[in-house]
Amino acid sequence: MKVIHTIADLQETLVAARAAGQSIGLVPTMGALHEGHASLVRRSVAENDVTVVSIFLNPTQFNDPRDLERYPRTLDADCALLTQCGAQVAFAPSVAEIYPEPDTRHFSYPPTDAVMEGAMRPGHFNGVCQIVSKLFAIVEPDRAYFGEKDFQQIAVIRRMVDDLGFRLQIVPCPVVREADGLAMSSRNTLLAPAERAIAPQIYAALDASREFARSHSITLTREYVEARINAVPGLRTEYYSIVDADTLADVSDWNAAPAVVGCITVYCGAKPIRLIDHIHY
Ligand code: PAF
Repeated sequence: MKVIHTIADLQETLVAARAAGQSIGLVPTMGALHEGHASLVRRSVAENDVTVVSIFLNPTQFNDPRDLERYPRTLDADCALLTQCGAQVAFAPSVAEIYPEPDTRHFSYPPTDAVMEGAMRPGHFNGVCQIVSKLFAIVEPDRAYFGEKDFQQIAVIRRMVDDLGFRLQIVPCPVVREADGLAMSSRNTLLAPAERAIAPQIYAALDASREFARSHSITLTREYVEARINAVPGLRTEYYSIVDADTLADVSDWNAAPAVVGCITVYCGAKPIRLIDHIHY
């Protein structure tokens, strides 16, 4: 596997691949790779001739500098995992390479980027659109792979792709969970053992709420999930929103949208670590 740090070197490699008629898959990441990322990379490797995995801790999507500071950085281990998965290229540029000038572009795709994470982390999706649009322009992939764990992120990126007319396919990939149900996340490594022990209660509550929802309203289902999680010492919900899976607008009735999803953010432990998850009803 080639590890490339500059846009010029990456494009030189990709021009040759494209000239040979090869398809290109892109897996954008911020590093600290785990089995969830590996599943995206394996899928891209199976579906494309060349898989490029970007490893770039994008500063413009962090609205909290402490969050950026403590984000795990594990480039050597990341490259070892990508080699194992069969990726051809790891693209690990510097911040100056990606943002030689501050990125002043503004993206706005309400309601998808205005609710939930968009409301709680102002500027977050703007930063995501800045980096993802740059990566799409640099790599020009045929397909781009994103984990459904960041359910809202995929909805926002789809809107951006339509808006900017990128000719590529967005491939959403299922959440990969630990054996106890906790959604895999780079942030899980920041959990102390006692925090890691309670974190699976988040998915347990979401999973149980499916059965509860069969005979209860949206409001009662939301209250059920919040009460169950907040009853666990060390867990505190930030929001639990039950929304139209396409637009992410709130729904008040189970039949108000063809597909309904519940999206949650929970603070875990004393630091605290912010964990997200979702469930389809
Ligand atoms: O999901 C992520 O890890 C990031 O938001 C992404 C898509 C790599 C952009 O920095």
